[in-house]
Amino acid sequence: HKDLLDVSQLSRSEVMAIFETAGRFQELQERPVKKVPTLKGRSVILFFAEPSTRTKTSFDVAGKRLSADTFSLATSSSSLTKGESLKDTALTLQAMAPDAIVIRHWCSGAARFLADRLECSVINAGDGRHAHPTQALLDSFTLHQEWGDLTGKTVLILGDIAHSRVARSNVILLRKLGANVRICGPRTLLPPALNTWPVKVFSDLSEAVKGVDAVMCLRLQLERQKDGLLPDLREYARTFGLGLKHVELANPDVRILHPGPLNRGVEINSELADTANSLILDQVASGVVVRMALLFLYMTRKGEE
Ligand code: CP
Repeated sequence: HKDLLDVSQLSRSEVMAIFETAGRFQELQERPVKKVPTLKGRSVILFFAEPSTRTKTSFDVAGKRLSADTFSLATSSSSLTKGESLKDTALTLQAMAPDAIVIRHWCSGAARFLADRLECSVINAGDGRHAHPTQALLDSFTLHQEWGDLTGKTVLILGDIAHSRVARSNVILLRKLGANVRICGPRTLLPPALNTWPVKVFSDLSEAVKGVDAVMCLRLQLERQKDGLLPDLREYARTFGLGLKHVELANPDVRILHPGPLNRGVEINSELADTANSLILDQVASGVVVRMALLFLYMTRKGEE
């Protein structure tokens, strides 16, 4: 593929090839000198029109560890603030001849819009409510590191599903890898066409969490809730916040994930986020090696040889 727009375009064997490449890069992270010359002379533009800590930094770190030149563009410092269209911005960036553009944008479909118009690889780093493929890949890679095969494992995705590109991409990928997926959240934060999703839906968290192997807590996307459905935070934390009592109902080895940024005390008990069951920082570490694998595979088109 030229572009990575969502995990739906990847076959299971392509996902495994990404994991295998990420696993090889993981060995480098143990070394005192972590940089290799693999992508020397290649360049990647990080075009983030929405805020990001983890995704942007880990793409930057990933690119630099592979000796690619990385260039950052944020909305606040770009001519998008002067009214330049996404198309003109993209064509301008393309004229600088990068090998790849990593884009995060508030519009669902923004990554595809660019991919259809640009010759270089486009990697979707999150578009509106639609997709966040690199997050789903790093989440499943983290679980793959823990469990090996995901087949037959049960993962609960908890919280604000309606506004979550992380949930959408994770459901697709977890199912592709053979895991069972449960969804739980308040009715107002579930997407309208949930009956077409390959998931089991719960409204009661104590029921949803019974026997699960992993819980993925999601952030309340307050910035996307302009439709008057904003829940009362204390009520939300009481009903849908993952607490110590819920973990006791899950598999004793339950793994806890969160894509970040965390609202401690809202969607997850603060203490729980720091326990041995929590893989939250492992997810961040996986983010670097999975993005190294993606930059390597997409910028050299290794999968197509
Ligand atoms: N998980 C995630 O996408 O985090 P950032 O918004 O900090 O990149």
